[in-house]
Amino acid sequence: MERDDADLETGIERVALRLARARRMLAVTGAGVSAESGMPTYRGLGGLYQDRETEAGMPIEEVLSGPTLARDPILCWRYLAEIGRAVSGCRPNDAHRALAGFEDLLEVVVLTQNVDGFHRQAGSTRVIDLHGDCHRLLCLACPGRREVADYRDLAEVPPRCPACGGVERPDVVLFEEPLPLEKTWELRSELRQGFDVYLSIGTSSLFSYITRPFHDARQEGRFTVEVNPGPTSLSEVVDVRLVGKAGSVLPRLLERVRDLRNPPGENPSAGD
Ligand code: OAD
Repeated sequence: MERDDADLETGIERVALRLARARRMLAVTGAGVSAESGMPTYRGLGGLYQDRETEAGMPIEEVLSGPTLARDPILCWRYLAEIGRAVSGCRPNDAHRALAGFEDLLEVVVLTQNVDGFHRQAGSTRVIDLHGDCHRLLCLACPGRREVADYRDLAEVPPRCPACGGVERPDVVLFEEPLPLEKTWELRSELRQGFDVYLSIGTSSLFSYITRPFHDARQEGRFTVEVNPGPTSLSEVVDVRLVGKAGSVLPRLLERVRDLRNPPGENPSAGD
């Protein structure tokens, strides 16, 4: 066994032992959790933001911003539609399914920065989608809102409200926009209750609202873990780094925790 594999094996065992005794887990996810679905990440090789100057000569972060949407919805929507179409062509993967599977064993809150809706599709029931969900469209002119399953079915881009004909936007947080208040409250309330295990999966952990729970957890002596093939700003902070892809690490972790919670041969109904 290569040293890296051995480290991963040992790390999975350490985390599994904690999870086998845990009551509540927070899973914070980013674009990396959807990478094995075929979704591009934002940063890094092949990422949506990599060396990306738009046709308008503006950085992609400026095009995908609230002010650009207000000023030039056609330009902003060109790139929103690109993300939406990428989501439409993909499906949840083993990482999303494993996270949903943990709900059979303990309380799981998923805090995701992803707008693809894959955690709910895979069966997770407590999801705080802090950056929104691109399947929800909101009218900019009236209170109209609707769900779109697949961006490839949109009759026009920018899409228009079926009720009033106004331009619509996806219910996602764009650059220079604040986080939705009700979701930050929900998150704060969950964090106040605390978790036994804090898992960061597939995010480069750039935003303070994503890293703070891990720093606080460390200070409070709680158990923190990162699942990521590469280093991030949290790599030196967490108790255990599982260096690998979410789609293979999380199913292995789930299987091991299941075994530890229900050891083979200890069937509770046996002998009844
Ligand atoms: P990034 O693209 O910044 O980071 C993706 C992370 O996933 C990197 O750390 C990769 O190493 C890791 N990764 C890649 N493949 C992986 C795999 N198979 N398994 C596990 N990890 C893998 O994406 P985010 O951190 O999600 O915000 O970006 C955060 C936010 O920045 C996004 O939500 C978006 C963007 O601006 C908004 O749009 C508001």
